[in-house]
Amino acid sequence: MGKAYRRCCNIVFYFKATFAFFISIYAMAYQVYMVHIPIRPLDPVYMPPINSKDSQMCFHDTTAGRARLEPPADKFIFGFSLDWAIDHPQALRDRLGGPAVPLINTFVKINNSGYEENIIEWQAQLMQEQGGMLEITLQPTVRADELEFDILQKYAKFMRKINSKYGVAVLLRFMHEMNGNWMAYGFQPVEQKKTWITLTKLIREQTNMTAMVWSPNSGFGYPFGVSGFPPKGSEGFKMLDTNNDGQITVLDDPYMPFYPGDEWVDWVGISIYNYYRHSHTTHQTAAVPDFVFYDPNAVATLRSDKNHLNFYDRFVVKTGKPFILSETGSAFAYNAPDSRPLIKNDLSLPLIDQEVQIKESWWRAIFWISILDKDKKKLPKLKAAVWFEEMKEENSYDWDQYGPVNIIRDYRITFNSTVKDRFVKDLYDIGDRLLYAGKLRFTCNGTIIY
Ligand SMILES: *[C@@H]1O[C@H](CO)[C@@H](O)[C@H](O)[C@H]1NC(C)=O
Ligand SMILES: *[C@@H]1O[C@H](CO)[C@@H](O)[C@H](O)[C@H]1NC(C)=O
Ligand SMILES: *[C@@H]1O[C@H](CO)[C@@H](O)[C@H](O)[C@H]1NC(C)=O
Ligand SMILES: *[C@@H]1O[C@H](CO)[C@@H](O)[C@H](O)[C@H]1NC(C)=O
Repeated sequence: MGKAYRRCCNIVFYFKATFAFFISIYAMAYQVYMVHIPIRPLDPVYMPPINSKDSQMCFHDTTAGRARLEPPADKFIFGFSLDWAIDHPQALRDRLGGPAVPLINTFVKINNSGYEENIIEWQAQLMQEQGGMLEITLQPTVRADELEFDILQKYAKFMRKINSKYGVAVLLRFMHEMNGNWMAYGFQPVEQKKTWITLTKLIREQTNMTAMVWSPNSGFGYPFGVSGFPPKGSEGFKMLDTNNDGQITVLDDPYMPFYPGDEWVDWVGISIYNYYRHSHTTHQTAAVPDFVFYDPNAVATLRSDKNHLNFYDRFVVKTGKPFILSETGSAFAYNAPDSRPLIKNDLSLPLIDQEVQIKESWWRAIFWISILDKDKKKLPKLKAAVWFEEMKEENSYDWDQYGPVNIIRDYRITFNSTVKDRFVKDLYDIGDRLLYAGKLRFTCNGTIIY
């Protein structure tokens, strides 16, 4: 995202950083995999046995009832995206000291040479132990039209194996944040749509327990810079230039050109993060109100009064699909690694109180607008969220003084015991409206029984 887009606003949506980051993560994750597998042998469990007549149950009809893997009414799934190089589902459960987390995200890459099969299988085994689901964020490392049919078909069969051998259902977040230029497949609406539909058909031939999650980046700040567009005059360019003014700008629809169509999408998702306004190298100094998510007049709402920015009504209400904040969080920022004093606190609150405030207000807003909203006037179709549970160094920009700078952002809510205790208390207060792993019963027709 261009730095200019972040300057002015309180709430800014964040996109995933560079591939270098993921390459380093997976180099490490693979070592973890090598370390864990020999000491954690797991018998394969076929649910149902793949060659039995019961396996036919895993071929379902999604036209009846809820969408694939959609939780029952008034139930919510709060999941996490872990840094798998240093963290895993049981460690998360131990930190929370309660029932297991129902949904955990992993970022994996795919191209014509493969899709990190060993890592996914290891992660599925760990989720099988928990009795939960995986969100697989599957990122092509090549242009959207370069993925060949054979690899997509192989991947679809692999999803069937993950679903049936381990009993782990998958929310498949394919080509996420495709409405930006920071992924190899970004800004290619024609090719994305084609590849998306191909994979979706293949998946549906294989299994009913993998759901397709269409998950763009928040359109706030779209088109996030001036490069990476399809050439002028091309079909792709015409699709992106939704107001036909010959250019791709903030006035164009940041979502619709990338939507594969109702038939090919099971869940609708979005990446949405909170940052402090202004230099965003500072601590947040105020709680995030819940209306930022749904008030048409809020800065980066999901329900804008400008039709082309109104995500929730167009893609969730109108389609009736379940909605997930497929990547979300609120970071507490530390000083730059070289200790430059970037932090400018407006409040005299102790740091830990500021950290609690910035994180707690965000997770509470998520609960308030979904299951705790008694009038169901906010975002009642919001069924799940995945918290980005990592601390990482990110490129940033200090508008007041230093210019480009690296900053350490701590998104985590389960490591520091003060923050974690507040979160756990909220979980207990909400009680059985939250779904937990182990209590979930997946039926092969894609519904979840609680
Ligand atoms: C999904 O289930 C329906 C029946 O419930 C079945 O007709 C269909 O073949 C199934 N598809 C897959 C891929 O399992
Ligand atoms: C899915 O399967 C479960 C258990 O077999 C059943 O209770 C439910 O009615 C089915 N739902 C649909 C939509 O077929
Ligand atoms: C394919 O993906 C692997 C990681 O899964 C990566 O190491 C390799 O560089 C990728 N190849 C291309 C052409 O992107
Ligand atoms: C939690 O974080 C605060 C700083 O924000 C620190 O002072 C405190 O020691 C931390 N507590 C634990 C248990 O790590």
